[in-house]
Amino acid sequence: MTISQRIDAAYEYIRTRTDAAPAVGLILGSGLGDFCDRLEGRTVVPFAEIPGFPVSTVEGHAGAFVFGTYRGQAVAALQGRIHYYEGYDQQEITLPVRVMARLGVRSLVLTNAAGGVNLDFAAGCLMLIADHINFSGRNPLIGPNLDQFGPRFPDMSDIYTRALREKIRPLAAQAGIDLREGVYMMYSGPSYETPAEIRCFRTMGADAVGMSTVPEAIVARHCGMDVVGVSCITNMAAGVLDRKLDHSEVVETARRVKGDFTRLLEIILDVLRG
Ligand code: HPA
Repeated sequence: MTISQRIDAAYEYIRTRTDAAPAVGLILGSGLGDFCDRLEGRTVVPFAEIPGFPVSTVEGHAGAFVFGTYRGQAVAALQGRIHYYEGYDQQEITLPVRVMARLGVRSLVLTNAAGGVNLDFAAGCLMLIADHINFSGRNPLIGPNLDQFGPRFPDMSDIYTRALREKIRPLAAQAGIDLREGVYMMYSGPSYETPAEIRCFRTMGADAVGMSTVPEAIVARHCGMDVVGVSCITNMAAGVLDRKLDHSEVVETARRVKGDFTRLLEIILDVLRG
């Protein structure tokens, strides 16, 4: 099946399961997935059920769409995103974003766990993504353009919608959330970066580094969606502190900041409701 046919097949299948009309999409990062449980009237559609859909290989993250409402607002959430490092092409890992577009999603909230590259950051900070650097070595729009979604050469100058960030920042400050803002750099993973790479990325203008988000953001923007991105700085990146990186630290920090992270998501969803 072509990518277009896979998008259509997934859309048709989901329509047999729900008539949800979400305007907002949500993709939750490592250790940040619990928010899906707060959606009311949930319909869960596992990727494994959807014809032609990639299935996440990360343990405990098989992947599913979760449809529901949050404070009356219809939301399509993704539980367990698929990562480039799992071996799928970026066109495939962004299929869920295209399907969301077909379902009517106009704004996408992307969250991730990331390493802090900016030396003013510390584990536990939240960072609003102002812009990104695609250092993955690939672009999800490579291949025939899907004209029904957007143009061949889409503009990326305001990929993380500035007008939304300007509304979110003061509300986060009022809520007492220490919200930073900066540039997210995508590294393919799955190995963590080396200290030399992190020094290089800092020179290149990165504030945080992670293994996701950029492909989804590019595809969402291609579809004309507004994009909001939030990184949870779960650890300082390699070489910043004199110790090794471990995935358990990522999960542990994400758990520790869950309260602030959830309040920030609530603020973002309120802003998107308008
Ligand atoms: N590097 C890349 N990805 C990450 C990191 C990191 O230090 N922490 C969480 N995700």
